[in-house]
Amino acid sequence: MVGEHIDILNAAETPPFHMDDLHVGEDIRLRYRYIDLRRPEMLARLQLRAKITRLLRQFLDEQGFLDIETPMLTKATPEGARDYLVPSRTHTGQFFALPQSPQLFKQLLMMSGMERYYQIVRCFRDEDLRADRQPEFTQLDIEMSFIDESIITNLMESMIRGLFKTVLNEDLPDPFPRMTYQEAMRRYGSDKPDLRVPLELTDVGDLIADVKFKVFAKPANDPKGRVAALCVPNQGLSRKQIDDYTNFVAIYGAKGLAYIKVNDINAGRDGLQSPILKFLPDNAISAILERTKADSGSIIFFGADKAKIVNEALGALRLKIGEDLKLVEKGWKPLWIIDYPMFEWDENRWISLHHPFTAPNVPDIEMLENNPGTCLSRAYDMVLNGEEIGGGSIRIHSPEMQSAAFKVLGIGEQEAREKFGFLLDALKFGCPPHGGIAFGLDRLVMLMSGANSIREVIAFPKTQTASCLLTSAPSAASTEQLRELHIRLRKQP
Ligand code: AMO
Ligand code: AMP
Repeated sequence: MVGEHIDILNAAETPPFHMDDLHVGEDIRLRYRYIDLRRPEMLARLQLRAKITRLLRQFLDEQGFLDIETPMLTKATPEGARDYLVPSRTHTGQFFALPQSPQLFKQLLMMSGMERYYQIVRCFRDEDLRADRQPEFTQLDIEMSFIDESIITNLMESMIRGLFKTVLNEDLPDPFPRMTYQEAMRRYGSDKPDLRVPLELTDVGDLIADVKFKVFAKPANDPKGRVAALCVPNQGLSRKQIDDYTNFVAIYGAKGLAYIKVNDINAGRDGLQSPILKFLPDNAISAILERTKADSGSIIFFGADKAKIVNEALGALRLKIGEDLKLVEKGWKPLWIIDYPMFEWDENRWISLHHPFTAPNVPDIEMLENNPGTCLSRAYDMVLNGEEIGGGSIRIHSPEMQSAAFKVLGIGEQEAREKFGFLLDALKFGCPPHGGIAFGLDRLVMLMSGANSIREVIAFPKTQTASCLLTSAPSAASTEQLRELHIRLRKQP
């Protein structure tokens, strides 16, 4: 067929950027997102996302889970971030909170006898944003009654294994390895270790506890301190690279980055190069070399400080060196992190490592109240290639235990009633043992599509400062709207 005439349906202006220009700034892409989405790779990502949600729904439907919606205008759910508040027009001076997660509603559904619930649901958290965090993001949220950790983790990993097989034709391990929180922190300095990087932290505190070098000896003798080594084999790093890494760990609060460069492992002290050699006796040096399995060409970095700083600094350095030196192995490395501490001491109070509804692994209320620092929780996180893609727990199902957990968290009886009275009441009317999990759907799609930010797999994402460049939201409200909402601004924008 040969065309005979042309109808112009709509004249189009030249788009603000070329479809095949790979160097367009993200601001421009987000401002003209509708044009950005015309590009084939963006379409492919959204198609992949739709396929993933379809397969996840199909799996859960087949397993007897019921898709149930929960409110968006609700009361605060504590998940560790700030709430997005919505002023009420009909109730002067009162506010709804957008859900940080449907946590409490899904627990209430278990109390209603629903037994198996799921929802693909938007969650809202006003927190510091990064490549893997958006102020509104999507969870695959799941809850089940009459289960324990093994039932839910086995079911969830079979769902994820099936997804990877169908979508990417990749075989994930069966079962996924399980690692305790403590082991993850010790070996990787992180509770979301990327197991593709073949480097590990090694404790050396006991080997240098008596040396004259205060930088090492002090944290080695402090119960909250840690002295750890990261041995990088056979790379011959330059002075400049070492300086760059010293600056890098400073971001995490490290006050320095001591190192020993092993030029010749068989030449004793003469074969080593290090600013701290003079502080270390021979036996400490040889024990460090042996424990870190150093060899000629290795460089051993040291972190010495409060354990939190050492873990963050060396944990991040491990990933950076892995990437810089191209040590990251190919493929998929999922695992479960288990046996989290129930609470963490934060300056002057206990906070939940997970959320306040997670069950402790001791059935005894007194043990929880008397030893909050040593109690472990029944939480589990699914980690894939260094990303936390899902987290969940077995929940508290007795009102007494829930009240005790609130008490440890410093939530007094009155505050507990005001904030969570409905939950405490519901627990009294016959609550089955239950537990669940929520996956970060955006993160899962990001990993599966090979994108490097969740913004790449969300049709209309927000910027790092939580604004929408396309619609210019947030924006000012009219005086009239504000008056209706009983709001007067302290400062005009
Ligand atoms: P959690 O807070 O661990 O658990 O959240 C579950 C998963 O959601 C993803 N996620 C995010 N993704 C993008 N942007 C964010 N700002 C963001 N915050 C979290 C992560 C995380 O693993 N109610 C509990 C779940 C439960 O106990 O069942 C909860 O929300 O991938
Ligand atoms: P200084 O005695 O402060 O000059 O430090 C000697 C070496 O120890 C330098 O290489 C520092 O980078 C390193 N260093 C200092 N503080 C720390 C620390 N907290 N952890 C690891 N190394 C450190």
